[in-house]
Amino acid sequence: MPSQLAGLFIAFEGGDGAGKSTQAAALAKALESSGFTVRRTREPGGTPIGEKLRSLVLDHGHGHIDAHTEALIFAASRAAHATQVIRPALDRGEIVLTDRYIDSSVAYQGAGRGLGTDAVRDINAWATSDLRPDLTVLLDVDPAVGRERRTAGEAAEDRLESEADEFHATIRAAFLDLAAARPEAYLVLPARLPVAELAARILERVESLLAVPQSSPA
Ligand code: TYD
Repeated sequence: MPSQLAGLFIAFEGGDGAGKSTQAAALAKALESSGFTVRRTREPGGTPIGEKLRSLVLDHGHGHIDAHTEALIFAASRAAHATQVIRPALDRGEIVLTDRYIDSSVAYQGAGRGLGTDAVRDINAWATSDLRPDLTVLLDVDPAVGRERRTAGEAAEDRLESEADEFHATIRAAFLDLAAARPEAYLVLPARLPVAELAARILERVESLLAVPQSSPA
């Protein structure tokens, strides 16, 4: 496996309604059936303190939350997640699948809220002691399609989801820029592809990573 740690770290990223959780679940199932130990997790959240921070930052009703505070809450949740969940699982040699990670903050707070992508990347590098995914699967979704999908049924939109389409278009462009800057570390797929096709393409890429011998002895 390519990670400097024993396990493999994969992040799912993309706009709201892209289908990240569906794909993370499908990948976990496929890997588990091949005998791998998989740890599925999500952000914001993933730890007890992270779940509390999640409701603080996503629920309506906490009054106005300024952009810096919002970015720091996501980073605080991520610091706990990286230290308490992700690193230990990677140290044990597990495959960690996270639904969102640093790129979400860079896209939503850095680009969407206008805090600057470099500044947001830097505070998150610090918060996680620079723990980066081996692979980021970016499910690229048209903002209008994403909104249609996530409001299907009665699902209510959270604080960020309910932002205007323009905000979501900025985020989409930011994700694509991140992927274009480091193509070797990303798999970008159009979210509109059939679920089974997406799952097959993601599995194929992950299997290719699992097949790579470790560059240095453990
Ligand atoms: P998510 O849990 O993916 O939404 P869902 O409720 O559909 O499962 O993410 C919640 C929202 O938080 C989503 O709109 C994206 C936003 N978010 C950020 O703005 N910055 C971040 O760093 C993260 C992790 C999420």
